[in-house]
Order: sequence, then C-alpha cells, then structure tokens
Amino acid sequence: MYRAVKIAENIFYAGVNDRRTHLFENLMPIERGVAYNSYVINDEKVAIVDAVEIGQVDRFLKKVEGIIGDKPVDYLVINHMEPDHAGAVNILASLYPDMKLVGNKKTKPMVEGFFGLGDRFVEVGEGDTIELGKNSLQFFLAPMVHWPETMVSYNPQNKVLFSGDAFGSFGTLDGAVFDDELDIDYFKDEMRRYYSNIVGKYGSPVQKALDKLAGLDFEIVAATHGPVLRSHIDEVIKMYQDWSTHTTQEGVVIAYASMYGNTEDMAEVVARELVEQGVKSVRMYDVSKTDSSYIISDIFKYKGLILGSPTYTNELHPNMESLINKIEHIGVKNHVVGVFGSFSWAGTAVKLLNGFVERMDWEIVGDPVEQKHALQKDKFEELRKLGKAMADSL
Ligand code: FEO
Repeated sequence: MYRAVKIAENIFYAGVNDRRTHLFENLMPIERGVAYNSYVINDEKVAIVDAVEIGQVDRFLKKVEGIIGDKPVDYLVINHMEPDHAGAVNILASLYPDMKLVGNKKTKPMVEGFFGLGDRFVEVGEGDTIELGKNSLQFFLAPMVHWPETMVSYNPQNKVLFSGDAFGSFGTLDGAVFDDELDIDYFKDEMRRYYSNIVGKYGSPVQKALDKLAGLDFEIVAATHGPVLRSHIDEVIKMYQDWSTHTTQEGVVIAYASMYGNTEDMAEVVARELVEQGVKSVRMYDVSKTDSSYIISDIFKYKGLILGSPTYTNELHPNMESLINKIEHIGVKNHVVGVFGSFSWAGTAVKLLNGFVERMDWEIVGDPVEQKHALQKDKFEELRKLGKAMADSL
C-alpha cells in the first residue's frame, strides 16, 4: 500500500506522475513528464481537492484508498475543469455516489455538459466556506487562471492554498512532493514554460489573482502540477509577478527558420555581434527543430527577440509562421525586436515579419536585413549593425 505523504494536519498528497504522455493538451511536448496533483483532506468529512487525468486514475484511486480506507468521499472540490484534473470526475462520482461536486457558478454548466452531473453540484461563491470537521475550505474565484471557472481553495487551519494551475509546472516529481525535497532550479524553466504557454495570455487576470492572494495568510501552496511549495513561495510569486507583467531580463532570443542554412548563416553573424557587444544570454533556436513552447518560454524571459525567415512560396517559412501565430495568440508584450530574412527570387519574409512586429506593438530595433541567395559580403556589416542595435537597446 502507498505510504501517504502528509501535506499538513489531515491533508495528504494523492497526486500521480505521468511519464507516458508525449504532448500536454496534445500540443506541448513534455519530455520531463508532468504531475497531476490531487489532495485529500481526511477529517470528519472527506474532501478531495482536484483529481487527475483519466489515464492515471487507477494509481490515483489506490492512493485515495490508502488515505481514507473505506470511508466515503463527501466532496470533490473542482478548482478547475480542464480534464488533466477533472478527467477522473465520472469515476469518482460512480465510486462515491453521495459525493458532492463543489465549484462556482461557471463550473456548474461544465460539470453538467462534460459529465451530466449537475444534480450533484454544490455551488460556492467568493469567500464561501465548507466545513469538514476540524478543517474547512474557503473559496476564492480566480477566473482565467486558466479557464473562466478557475478558483482556488484555502484551508485556514493549516494555512494551505490549493492554487489550481497557478504556480504549477511541467515535470514529474520523481519521489518528491515538496519543493525542498528536490532541485527547484530544475523546475523553474518548466514552470515558466507551463505559465507562458498555458496561462501567459491571461496576465491581467493573473495580476488580479495575485492581488487577491496577497490578502491570504498561507504557508503552503499546493498547485495542481509541480512541487508543493513551502520553501520557495516568495520566489515563485515574484516569478509570477514578472511573467504576468511581461517583465523581462537582459538577453536575446534569436529564432530563425532556415531550409538550407543561408538564413541560419545570418543568425550566426547577429549572434556573434551580440556576444561581442557583451550580451551573455543569447538563445538561438531553429524553429523547425525546437518546439515553439520552449522558444516562447525564453521569449517570456528575455527582452530582446530577433526573428529570421526565408521566403517560402511567397510567405514566411511555415514553422516561423506557426511560431509568430502562437506569440500573437498569447499576446506577448514589451519586447524589442529585430528581423532579417533571405530569398532566392522574390522576398516577402522580412515584410511579413515587420508587419508582425507592428501588429504586436513592439519596438523595432535596427534596420531589417534581407539578403538574396547566400550571405553576401555587404550583408555582414548590416547584420552586425542589427546585432549592435539590439545590444544597445537592452
Ligand atoms: Fe492543469 Fe488548465 O489544467
């Protein structure tokens, strides 16, 4: 039988690690896997706070049974309806026929629509509380962190905040549960990748949620992914403050598409100039090799962005087009941007990249550089000027 990991008095970890799924949301690669965190409050009444993805339900149920034995579950608190957490709702509802589903007024139609379980629903609103015995749970709405129905649950007796997706991370926990049981630096990049690609569009709602949470006295943050925080809470909140306000560090992401290496040659010249100008953080990505989720994560980190693409059937290279579509969809703000491109008989890539930068309302730095065919002698200087202009703008 699993030995339950205690989070606080009466509160236990029942989460599971997923190392099998290749793409989170069938979209983002998760080479390091992901944890679906669930928590059980075993008091006079039993509450489960968030569940797990359906593929992991067997292990999850064994963990729940290890914590509560044959006691019934009274409440399933649904902080968030996305199926990486709510996937197990139907099975839990079948196993525990008296279990109530707790959510807010935006959760209810989703519970009915996805599961047909509206008759088991208990609606809570801002600040409402359910009593479990010695413990209680109080609810605060956090819309769009990550869906409209998102809320957080607070256990005042143990000062535990169940934060849903907020402060979550990709990456499996590999035997650990708490942030001081593992190498937190290993998770920081994956926390930013999770935030930037999944919640990054919703900076303003995240800011509102952070303001609201600042009024709560919590010592443990139990998110639905990643380690349970008790030693790095302030640091992680600061990271969220920066990301949600698009506050960046000195550094440059160079993202380029290149079919046969001519556009890549241009990127190399710009990169060298940046380094010669003293920029230490230069991150170069071939958009056909590196998944956009990693590139977008670094764009959230660094102020500078340089985009390069060949003209491809009178358009951008399709992988560059895909990257900029995602950046535009997320609405990344506050960047300084340079562009370059190449073509063989008719150039449109630079024009299209310029249009993208204008639509994003970003600051363009330096003069765009466009070359025909292979890198020509006179283009070296133009590319170095672009690199210098970028370095000067940081
Ligand atoms: Fe982890 Fe938005 O679900």
